[in-house]
Parts: sequence; C-alpha cells; structure tokens
Amino acid sequence: MLTIGVLISGKGSNLQAIIDAVGRGEITGRVAVVISNKADAYGLERARKAGIEALVIPSRGKERTDFEREVAEALESRGVELVCLAGFMRVLTPYFIRRFKHRIMNIHPALLPSFPGEDAQGQAFAYGVKVTGCTVHFVDEGVDTGPVIVQIPVEVREDDTADTLSGRILEQEHRAFPRAIQLFAEGRLQVTGRKARVLPARR
Ligand code: GRF
Repeated sequence: MLTIGVLISGKGSNLQAIIDAVGRGEITGRVAVVISNKADAYGLERARKAGIEALVIPSRGKERTDFEREVAEALESRGVELVCLAGFMRVLTPYFIRRFKHRIMNIHPALLPSFPGEDAQGQAFAYGVKVTGCTVHFVDEGVDTGPVIVQIPVEVREDDTADTLSGRILEQEHRAFPRAIQLFAEGRLQVTGRKARVLPARR
C-alpha cells in the first residue's frame, strides 16, 4: 500500500479525484495527510470529510527553506512515499525536490512542454491551438519541466471560452492524476534522464 501526501493551495478537486479513486480501489494506497499553505483552501474540508488528516502550514512570511523543512518533516513523519502537488501554488526549491527525488508528481493543465507556468488554459486558448490537455509529471528543479508520466489531450472547440475549455481539461485531470499515481504504486515508473518510462503491468 502506497502512502500518499497531497499538497494543495485551493479548491482541491484533484485531491477529491484522488480520494475517490482510492475509495474505488483504483489506487492501491492511502492518503495519509493533506497539507495546505493556505488556511482557507476548500481542499482541507474535503480531506476532513474523508477522514484524512488536514494540516495548514503557512508559507507566508517564512523563509522558503523553513517552510519546506516543516512540510518535509510533516510528510516524512507520516511515512509518505509519494508527494502529489494538486493545485499547490508554490514553486519548490531544490532542497525539497532532492529530499523527495522522483517522488513528487505535479498536475499541469496543458500538454507540456507547451504552455508552462500560470494560466496554462488561458495561454492555450489565446494562442489558438486546436488541441491542448493535461500532463502529470515528476517534479524536477525547473518549472513544469520534469519527466512526463501521463498526458491526456483535449480538443479545443470553436465555441469554447477559456472557462469552458478549462472545465473540460479539469475533467481529464481527474482521470490523469489517479492513473499516474497507480503506475507509481505498481512500481511501473522508471526515470532515466528526462524520461519516465512506463513498464508493462506484471501479471
Ligand atoms: C488544476 O487546474 C491544476 O492543473 C493546477 O491547478 C488547478 C488545481 O485545481 N495545477 P484543484 O485545486 O485541484 O481543483
């Protein structure tokens, strides 16, 4: 059973998708702790409702490494093996990333390496691409640059607005993240250089 920690800053719909996938047995693991850097993140409510420990560790007014040390200690003391960034709006420093090397996943609302950074859906919409989507990747020391694990494409419709497009991308995020976590839980992800290879399922 994989022990998962989820970091959030906001509404936590991806967190909910992970909780639901665990509940359906689609992830053979458990969420041990949810940590938010914002006290008013709705995701904290979702965690509590699911009986999961919900912690607030404020980032504001703190040295980055002090904040990250607190988060790392909270995760490690609960035996967390995989850290999932689900709408966590802070860039992590190399200190944290090395401490959880190849054990941190992020979800990004575009097909990386297109449209990294903030408001990826708005960037894709403004650019006028016909296909965008979402990406789950391991976190490395760049912003949205780590090895890609799962991508799901989403077609841009002629009558889309940035909002309707974001909504359809979010639906696919909710499928992609649990899938990536389960690949990790099954020991099927092998990182070599910038590639995450998906090994075949063992029978
Ligand atoms: C998602 O679009 C995710 O891709 C991005 O932040 C958003 C978080 O949404 N990193 P939620 O908090 O999971 O609902």
